[in-house]
Amino acid sequence: MKSTILAASSILVAAVAATAVATGEPYYSLSTKPISPMSWPHAPQFLSYSFEPAFWTEFFGEPGSPRDLTFTLLKHLHDRGAKPVIRAGGITMDSMVFDANQELSVVRTENGKGGIYKTTIGPAFYKHWDNFPEGTSFVSTLNFGNNSIDIARGLAAASYQLQRDKIAYYELGNEPTNYPTSRWQGSTEAYIKQWQNLTDAIDKAVSDDSHGRWWASSATTDVTPLKVRPSDLIPKGVNSTGQVGQYSIHSYAFATCDPARAARATIANILNHTDLLRYADDEIYPSAKAAMDAGAPWVIGEFNSIACSGKPNVSDTFAQALWTADVELLYAVRNAASVHLHQGAALAFQSDQQLNAPADDGSPGFSSYSLLYPVDSTKRGDARVLPVFVSQLLVAEALAESKGGSGARIAALKTPRGLLEREFSAYAIFHGQGRRNKPELVKLVLLNMKPYYADQEAAPSTLSINIGNHNGAVVKRMTAPSVDEKDSARVTWAGQSFRNADAVGDVSVERLVKNEPVSLRDSEAVLITFSA
Ligand SMILES: *[C@@H]1O[C@H](CO)[C@@H](O)[C@H](O)[C@H]1NC(C)=O
Ligand SMILES: *[C@@H]1O[C@H](CO)[C@@H](O)[C@H](O)[C@H]1NC(C)=O
Ligand SMILES: *[C@@H]1O[C@H](CO)[C@@H](O)[C@H](O)[C@H]1NC(C)=O
Ligand SMILES: *[C@@H]1O[C@H](CO)[C@@H](O)[C@H](O)[C@H]1NC(C)=O
Ligand SMILES: *[C@@H]1O[C@H](CO)[C@@H](O)[C@H](O)[C@H]1NC(C)=O
Repeated sequence: MKSTILAASSILVAAVAATAVATGEPYYSLSTKPISPMSWPHAPQFLSYSFEPAFWTEFFGEPGSPRDLTFTLLKHLHDRGAKPVIRAGGITMDSMVFDANQELSVVRTENGKGGIYKTTIGPAFYKHWDNFPEGTSFVSTLNFGNNSIDIARGLAAASYQLQRDKIAYYELGNEPTNYPTSRWQGSTEAYIKQWQNLTDAIDKAVSDDSHGRWWASSATTDVTPLKVRPSDLIPKGVNSTGQVGQYSIHSYAFATCDPARAARATIANILNHTDLLRYADDEIYPSAKAAMDAGAPWVIGEFNSIACSGKPNVSDTFAQALWTADVELLYAVRNAASVHLHQGAALAFQSDQQLNAPADDGSPGFSSYSLLYPVDSTKRGDARVLPVFVSQLLVAEALAESKGGSGARIAALKTPRGLLEREFSAYAIFHGQGRRNKPELVKLVLLNMKPYYADQEAAPSTLSINIGNHNGAVVKRMTAPSVDEKDSARVTWAGQSFRNADAVGDVSVERLVKNEPVSLRDSEAVLITFSA
């Protein structure tokens, strides 16, 4: 018996070796059997954004002169079926005030060095929402930092009067975990009491509707005296008044807020898939689970790779595209209803020892993790799209609804034997009810996270991956000359680059014949769509 098995497996090895010799590539087999439960069906709102309100005008312009660079990027996503929810949120929402007489959308009150004391918004800020692609909804963010019902209610009332139909949720306060400890003395109960008091007063004054209109928590995963993650708030009854619509948590596994953490924010570390799983499961999932156990949706209300505005030479490279695709898909597996990738600029008051800063003249030092540098700036040079953008096209296409309108479901796949978990990530995507009434495998996403640097001596590996039996497939590739590529003109999705937001080049796909394996270089990703 034993000898038969041996004989059979040596035939297999021989076949594998033959293919490897034929292509000259190391050969691996991917099992398409999920190792995680299949997610809930995803809505077109999954791929979403958060924009720091103080820099709203830099990203979006004014209603009469919208910033084409940013709007063109949004259009690419809508063209692929995504309908991002826009949260005008972040630290500066906590010193934001509404002034009905202000003509401009946004006016920052700063010290000479770019420290922002106040962000004043006028009616144009809300009117501008009409310029977004049809179907865009928004999170109306309210200032909790100034501890003033008048300020918070003023923002809520203005957004309701001008854009009630476009408001998906309201959010009171950004990252209360970072407020001065004196505010609630570290008491979760005291926080909930005040949060409920204000949200209730605002609902009564503004819409007279208190049902499920609010995001709750908006906490970071930092260790702080105040514990208000969803997993802390839910058991303590934050929804006892029935106002919570979704639970929001912020995800930043790396940071440049101080030198010790800045040293760890390297390309190699942000692309360690095992570590991304560890952070998601240890820091985020307990809150996600608490929400789902309560029958509630949860969102990553704000996230990015490296807190305190990213790290130049890391988050402005192609590594950020691999990071973003992997992290968005791993939160999709864990049933996040939406993930809001944060966009902004360095904030001088965020930390007194952070790597990033505004320019010496106080002009914005745009975050190097953003999709784009929206305007020319002394700190970042020409306005342009960054290498990360292609990841948004990959994720939008991967999670697009089926032609029949059913949401995509996603599950994680096992690392093929012979590859390292930290260097390889794979997902299977399913649609609707296929044969035998089971969701049908329609796509795969494979991410080769192994860094291939421009200046390394060793040539990159190109893996040949057997993706099981299939009747042919179309492959779209996300690639760049190296993982540290910073020029988005050299970073492509299905052959097209997007440096000035418009697609350059023709769409190019690879067609696999029946049962053909797919090839994948180090620091590359593919979306494989099976033929029906
Ligand atoms: C709001 O709080 C900020 C500090 O967080 C402070 O600088 C600002 O003056 C306050 N604004 C108002 C209107 O109280
Ligand atoms: C909210 O707090 C204010 C001031 O502390 C108080 O007057 C009011 O009754 C409270 N409202 C609710 C609904 O708890
Ligand atoms: C909050 O409570 C209301 C009323 O019981 C319920 O309808 C709603 O679904 C709850 N929200 C969440 C997020 O659990
Ligand atoms: C990758 O992350 C895991 C989990 O945090 C860690 O144990 C491991 O040392 C990391 N590997 C490298 C090469 O950094
Ligand atoms: C980024 O790399 C360039 C050279 O490639 C170097 O001049 C610059 O100082 C680096 N920036 C940071 C913040 O490390």
